[in-house]
Parts: sequence; C-alpha cells; structure tokens
Amino acid sequence: MKVIKDIRAMQEISEFLRRTGKKIGLVPTMGYLHEGHVELLIAAKDECDVVIASIFVNPAQFLPGEDFEKYPRDFMRDYFICMQAGVDYIFNPEAEEVYGKDYKTYVSINDLSDKYEGKFRPGHFTGVATIVLKLFNITKPHRAYFGQKDAQQVVTLRKMVKDLNVDVEIRVCETLREENGLAKSSRNVYLDDKQREDAAVLNEALNLGKNMILKGDFDDYKSVKKAMRDYIETKTPECSLQYIAITDNELMEKIDDLKNYEGEVLISLAVFFGKTRLIDNILFTK
Ligand code: PAJ
Repeated sequence: MKVIKDIRAMQEISEFLRRTGKKIGLVPTMGYLHEGHVELLIAAKDECDVVIASIFVNPAQFLPGEDFEKYPRDFMRDYFICMQAGVDYIFNPEAEEVYGKDYKTYVSINDLSDKYEGKFRPGHFTGVATIVLKLFNITKPHRAYFGQKDAQQVVTLRKMVKDLNVDVEIRVCETLREENGLAKSSRNVYLDDKQREDAAVLNEALNLGKNMILKGDFDDYKSVKKAMRDYIETKTPECSLQYIAITDNELMEKIDDLKNYEGEVLISLAVFFGKTRLIDNILFTK
C-alpha cells in the first residue's frame, strides 16, 4: 500500500492504472475510519482491481463554528485499517494543495444543496460536491463508494454525476450500526456513554415511522412525523430534534400524499445530543 500526497503523482498513477486496464474503485473519506468505512473499502476491493481510499478532512464542507479543528484525526490508525482492508493507495493531500491560492470554483446542486441538511448547514453540500468532483478528477475512478448513512450526500452526488455527465458509477453501501442501532460515525467519539445509549432512539424512531407507513397506520405524513417526534422527545427529553423529513430518494421532495405514494421513501432526521449533531435515515419501498 502506498500513500500519495501529491495531486499530480496521484493523477499519473491513476492514468497508468487505467491504461493497463485496471478497474479503479475510490472510497472518499475524512479519516478516523470505523467499520462503516471498512464496509465501503471491502465492497470496493470486491468489485475493483485497485482500491484508492482518500483521507482528507475537507475544510470546504465545514461551516464556520463547526468541528473542523476538532474533527478526530489519527492517520497511523487509518493507515493500518486501510492496509488490513487491502487498500492499494491512500490519497492524503494537504488542504493547501487541494485549495490553492485564490481558489474560486465550486459545484453546487440547486435546491438539493439547500434543503434539510443543507438548510441547517448552508454551503455544506457545495463543499462536498466540490471535493468529490476534484477527487474524481484526481483519482479517475470507475466506481466510487458512499454510505447510505449520509443519504442526502448520496442523493446530491448522484445528481451531480448525472447532470455533469461524470463518468463514475456511484455505489452505495448500507448503514453499519452499533448493536443498539446507533449508526457508526467518526463523530460518535464526541458522545458520552449515556448519550451513546440514548442515541439508539434515532434508529428506533425511524423504524417506527417506517412501520407506520408500511402498515398504512397514519392519517398523513404529518402524523408520522408527530409520532416519531413524540417518541424521541418522550424517550430522550434531553436531546433536541432538528428536523424529520419524509421524502422521495431522488430529489428529496416532500411526499405530501403519502397514502397513495408508491416508490422509495426516505425518512431522514437530525438530532442534537448535547453539542453533538447526529444524522440518520431509513430507506424503504412502499
Ligand atoms: P466520512 O464522514 O468520513 O464518510 C466517508 C464515507 O463513509 C461516506 O460515504 C459515508 O456515508 C460513509 N459512512 C460513514 N458512516 C457510515 C456507516 N455507519 N455505515 C456505512 N457508511 C458509512 O462523508 C464524508 O466523509 C465526506 O463528506 C466525503 C464524502 C469524504 C467528502 O469529503
């Protein structure tokens, strides 16, 4: 396994790999890897000849006042996890090289960048789409692997790929969870033991919403949201719910007529436990 820091060097390696007929799989990450990331690395290893994992805490996707500075970092730990997962190259550039002097160009996906997560984290998806397109241009993958954990990220990147005719196949892996249902996340290190236990409420509420919808046991989408909100607020009164969204999985449009809707339903939510903001979602077909 090689660690590449230089953009030009990475492009040359990827160009060579492509010319020699290798299928390249890219797994973009911000490091501090956990089993959720490993799941993506293994899927890439299964489906591609060469796996590139990028490790880059992307300043452009953090808002002022968010946790960019304190985002957990441990390169040596990540290095060994990648090695065990059979990664071929770690791409680990410096921010100064990625966003050089006078950096000006950003990718924004109209509407999708601004709703739900984007509403509470304005500019976040522009930062994500920009870095992901840059990573695609640097590592030239055939396939790129993302987690369903970040549902709106997946929807946004799929749209970017479609709209800009980017020749990369987006592959999505299921959300990996702790035993109590809490989605694994690098940010879970911010939670204390009690919060970690309490945070099981997210997945429970999502399943509650899903079951109500599948059983037809609701008046309209508002009643599903209310039942989920009541469940969360009763079970863990010290947390603070930011939003619950019931949408389609293509443009994340609100499903008004949930009774008669047929297709994929995405329920997503964001909840604060103390200062830590957790997101989760459930995707199913109605
Ligand atoms: P990061 O949070 O490090 O996540 C990297 C990838 O791992 C993302 O595709 C994310 O959805 C996936 N992932 C995280 N937790 C997961 C879990 N519990 N189960 C399955 N997959 C999981 O997401 C980012 O970084 C960044 O926004 C990035 C795409 C790298 C752009 O900077």
